[in-house]
Amino acid sequence: MQPVIPQDEFLRRRQRVLDQLPANVVALVAANEQLIRSNDTEFPFRQNSYFHYLTGFNEPDAVLMLSTLSSQPGSVLFCQDKDPDAEVWHGLRLGYHNAPNALGIDAGYNIDQLEQRLPELLNGTESVFLLLGEDESLEHDVHQAMAYLRETEKRGNKVPHRIEDLRPLLDTMRQQKSANELNVMREAARITGNAFKRIMKYVQPGVFEYQLGAELQHEFAMNGALYPAYEMICGGGANACVLHYTDNRDQLHDGDLVLVDAGAEYQGYAADITRTFPVNGKFSEEQKLLYDLVLEAQQAAFEKIKPGSDLVAATKAAARVISDGLTKLEILTGDADENFEQQRWKKYFIHGLSHWLGLDVHDVGRYKDAENNPLKLQPGMVITVEPGIYIARDSGADERWRGIGIRIEDDLVITEDGFENMTESVPKTTEEIETWMQK
Ligand code: GLY
Ligand code: MN
Ligand code: MN
Repeated sequence: MQPVIPQDEFLRRRQRVLDQLPANVVALVAANEQLIRSNDTEFPFRQNSYFHYLTGFNEPDAVLMLSTLSSQPGSVLFCQDKDPDAEVWHGLRLGYHNAPNALGIDAGYNIDQLEQRLPELLNGTESVFLLLGEDESLEHDVHQAMAYLRETEKRGNKVPHRIEDLRPLLDTMRQQKSANELNVMREAARITGNAFKRIMKYVQPGVFEYQLGAELQHEFAMNGALYPAYEMICGGGANACVLHYTDNRDQLHDGDLVLVDAGAEYQGYAADITRTFPVNGKFSEEQKLLYDLVLEAQQAAFEKIKPGSDLVAATKAAARVISDGLTKLEILTGDADENFEQQRWKKYFIHGLSHWLGLDVHDVGRYKDAENNPLKLQPGMVITVEPGIYIARDSGADERWRGIGIRIEDDLVITEDGFENMTESVPKTTEEIETWMQK
């Protein structure tokens, strides 16, 4: 059976938020809106990650309220009412009456009454916690309710003094994955890994980049991951040097590499894998030299990944390998130490080494601690490690290197004594890739 996040985990998360909030405050988190794609047709609905994290509820038009006011229920879900006519067209709704039973929420209210009920709900609170800037309409309603309370203070109402950002609290929680979350993320990684193995066998000269995308998506959906976690990148030849290339329209050519960066979204959680492999199944000499350098950089970064270490140390280790390697190949000229210290390698290793991974592919969470030092890695955190070298056609490097773009990306969970690589089953050395593609 495929793993899921059990309902009681959502309840425990809400309780942990309530435990950390001060007394006499209210926190509000809105669901995402349904977005229009064209005229009256919609994009597939994707729930807001924070809202999903706290409810597991997958409808638009909803707001979660958590309250530490003793006169109010701890958790309230405002959501849509049942509507048989609308449900014929758009599918079943939970209905606010059913929220307590289905979701373990203390009370369910009609979302149509949110605006009207907010003054009463905010009355007497010290602060309102919001995801500032995330939902304009909710923020507007809160401001309006506060204005009303301010105007009616002489009648005994009490307006909250502050609006505060709920993010620091939630981001810290989301940064540390639970056992259930890790199981779900391992499944996202497993499904994505199998899709990569599939396209490595499928690719050949003449295939279009979007056809690799279609193969990936088929494998995702056939395994319960209905959508990619982000727009996938399938870049043949020099297209690999465009970091967020998502056009995916070109044909793949004999002798080129193709860089594929894709991840399934499973139960809301993202995988994020990159592999770069030869369209014809065989690396050229130049491709192999650069590929091995990227792989060596990833290995150097891996050696720094453990509890108590940090991503700056890992980035430095990877950059040193790339800088020295590029100097040795004479892609960077001059002195090796100087090339590293002057960060000349940044011309070719353009992006960061790593980011948090979770409900969002670039997941939330701080990168620095309160003293502005790099945040220390801790067990349960999930990161990517993704060094790359990109030698654009107009880079000025020797012709033999131009138009080669390579990235290798794996998804790691920090463990007590190091890390677990959740995506290690995908062929990665040039030998593993060539053997797998020939099979
Ligand atoms: N797929 C985006 C990234 O690797 O960060
Ligand atoms: Mn990534
Ligand atoms: Mn990626």
